[in-house]
Amino acid sequence: MPELEKHQEAIDKSLKKLDDDSSKYHWMKEKKYATIFREIEHKLTGVLGVGQYDWVDRRVFDQVFDQSTLMAIYKLMQKDHIDTIEWPIARGKEAHVFHATSQSGPVAVKIFHTSNAVFKGLLQYIEGDPRFGGLRRRHRELVNVWVQKEHRNLMRMRKHGVRVPESLATHKNVLIMEYLGDETGPSPRLRDVIVDDPQKLYNDLLQQLRIIWHDAGLAHADFSDYNIMIHQGEAWIIDAGQSVVQNHPKAKEFLVRDITRLVQWAGRNGVDADLAEATLFVIQSDEEE
Ligand SMILES: Nc1ncnc2c1ncn2[C@@H]1O[C@H](COP(=O)(O)OP(=O)(O)OP(=O)(O)O)[C@@H](O)[C@H]1O
Ligand SMILES: [Mg+2]
Repeated sequence: MPELEKHQEAIDKSLKKLDDDSSKYHWMKEKKYATIFREIEHKLTGVLGVGQYDWVDRRVFDQVFDQSTLMAIYKLMQKDHIDTIEWPIARGKEAHVFHATSQSGPVAVKIFHTSNAVFKGLLQYIEGDPRFGGLRRRHRELVNVWVQKEHRNLMRMRKHGVRVPESLATHKNVLIMEYLGDETGPSPRLRDVIVDDPQKLYNDLLQQLRIIWHDAGLAHADFSDYNIMIHQGEAWIIDAGQSVVQNHPKAKEFLVRDITRLVQWAGRNGVDADLAEATLFVIQSDEEE
């Protein structure tokens, strides 16, 4: 039995190696990419887990960096939007966020994954079937559109006075925005802090929701204490990729969900908040007041 197990282990190992070799970094050996990588490698130390960032888990690089991401970062560096990429701030299912430097100060760099687990799962049944080609490319394009959508949503909200990080630049699957935090780390999310005056924060967030809907004409669509950061004593709203314009068929449904989440948060924090009243406040126009 142990013999058989050993055998199986060897097979698994070589299969895995085959998989790694064929899917991962073979492209990096190509002259073009190898040259580019060498050129910017010293600016990626916070991603590679070397030098002063040797605490960074090297897997971060493996999860995020593929051919198109490397090119996108390179472009953004050439245009001086990014100088160096330092430590990872957060790793999610859809994106990683990094602390980076630029000529005008620190920035947050959100790198969207060009392929996720669900997509990879589907892909194995489609790739190799000659009837359906180019799926990876189309998926990457979809991700790029998502990045544009987040960029435009953030700009639109900001223009109307919503407290969101300023979206500074995008390229392909990478978005650069104002960094909320200090040298020691990012500002905390609402869910990670104890709020002194929940009533005041509730009023403020309800007002922010009103501006988003009423003035910017959008529904945030993922409003929660995960996507609100407490920065320099104020609540900042983040994560706007999923936000939709008012005439999106589900906009009202998303709006109600956002308001409901806020009202529930208020309830948990001892604030007497009423969903109907809150909804009326968000949707009613100035003349009706
Ligand atoms: N501008 C920023 N400055 C500092 N930290 C940020 C900034 N934007 C995001 N973060 C941090 O990164 C985390 C993830 O960001 P965000 O919510 O935008 O992405 P996400 O939740 O991974 O997106 P998705 O909705 O695709 O899962 C946040 O919870 C926050 O801690
Ligand atoms: Mg989020």
